[in-house]
Amino acid sequence: MLTGRHVVLGVTGSIAAYKAVGLLRRLTERGAQVTVVMTAAAKRFVTPLTFQALSRRPVYDDLFDPRDEILHLSLAQAADLFLIAPATANTLARLAAGSANDLLSSLALSARCPVLLAPAMDAVMWEHPLVQRNLDALRGIGVGIIPPESGPLASGLVGPGRLAAEDVILAAVEARLESSGPWVGAHVVVTAGPTREAIDAVRTITNRSSGKMGYALADAARVRGAMVTLITGPTDLPVPVGVDVVAVETAEEMRRAVLDRIDKTTILLMAAAVADYRPKVSSPGKLKKSGSAIAIELVPTPDILGEVAALRTETFVVGFAAETDRLVERAIEKLHRKQLDLIVANDVSRPGIGFGADDNEVTMIDRTGAVMPLPRLPKRVLADRILDHIHAIRLQERPSPPPST
Ligand code: PMT
Repeated sequence: MLTGRHVVLGVTGSIAAYKAVGLLRRLTERGAQVTVVMTAAAKRFVTPLTFQALSRRPVYDDLFDPRDEILHLSLAQAADLFLIAPATANTLARLAAGSANDLLSSLALSARCPVLLAPAMDAVMWEHPLVQRNLDALRGIGVGIIPPESGPLASGLVGPGRLAAEDVILAAVEARLESSGPWVGAHVVVTAGPTREAIDAVRTITNRSSGKMGYALADAARVRGAMVTLITGPTDLPVPVGVDVVAVETAEEMRRAVLDRIDKTTILLMAAAVADYRPKVSSPGKLKKSGSAIAIELVPTPDILGEVAALRTETFVVGFAAETDRLVERAIEKLHRKQLDLIVANDVSRPGIGFGADDNEVTMIDRTGAVMPLPRLPKRVLADRILDHIHAIRLQERPSPPPST
């Protein structure tokens, strides 16, 4: 979810320093590269070795590190986000004063990426006017403050000062990275799940799509900063956060929802398994069981991608091809017939991947004919790989700016 993003995690000398260990773990689980920077006081609570083992990266604590004499500048340059959790009252004061007397404070002065602070201290300190003044000063220069929670404190007091919960800090990190992500300004439309075509009032024709692939793509695009619309057929998945959800049932409803938005769509990802046929007639009531065979006449549904292609918009169009045999050959045929920019050929011939599964195995083929097979991966990981590939193609296609005179 944070794949490819580099977070510098600053840890300062609070009793809550041990909570930074859990935070580091959650950030790395989400795919972030995390470099830990500690103050001298933080090392009295947790050893650097703990952070080093979990981040698999060196932990820095010395402004005069012999490995890099301009460490504060190199770290600041590489960071997508600088998070200090926990941030003590002393840290807030040093940062508000523009002090640069150790690595962490020098880094804060050098950082041009978003800076987030999660303070932790006793309630009496938190409520002190000088602490509040420092917080105001930091907010005033655009530093994000994740307020502490209220609850029992190490002093025995109950009040505000406990480091915010891991989930709250992670949500703030994601939100900050989203608004600074590479896809800020892009409108991504994702279709997901099956469509359902009525036979009668209670019976339908549908398929085994769970929506997991499309929802994973929507989430990956959201994390990159895109404005995301998820057009979803019926699924059991929870409504994703931070995404505009349009619930549809039939292929015709999905067609309408896609075409209504196509003018403003930067990237269209058609991961839905749209029904190819629907009953010609759908009975308004429940068909009675007669005991003998019945025939249901099926007629084709609209080809949504075909219609999008005919509009010849600027949209980067990605189709999926669910195939049980001749995967690449059939996908290339669909890529050309539907005039796609990219097709994700989905092997649905084996259990454990494809429809309904948590994992997927695909081959991506672009308009130049380049074929990129990917191994079996969890759908959320795969979503990132697909978006990385789209990003790379679009960067190549974007004309370079005219040389400056
Ligand atoms: O939802 P999950 O359980 O996570 O499973 C994911 C998936 C297997 C459904 C997904 O990865 C996938 O492969 N989706 C495409 C399934 C499909 O309908 O493939 P197709 O080869 O029939 O269609 C080719 C493309 O045309 C698709 O992008 C489809 O959305 C689109 N289409 C199909 C029919 C139609 N009437 N209009 C369309 O635009």
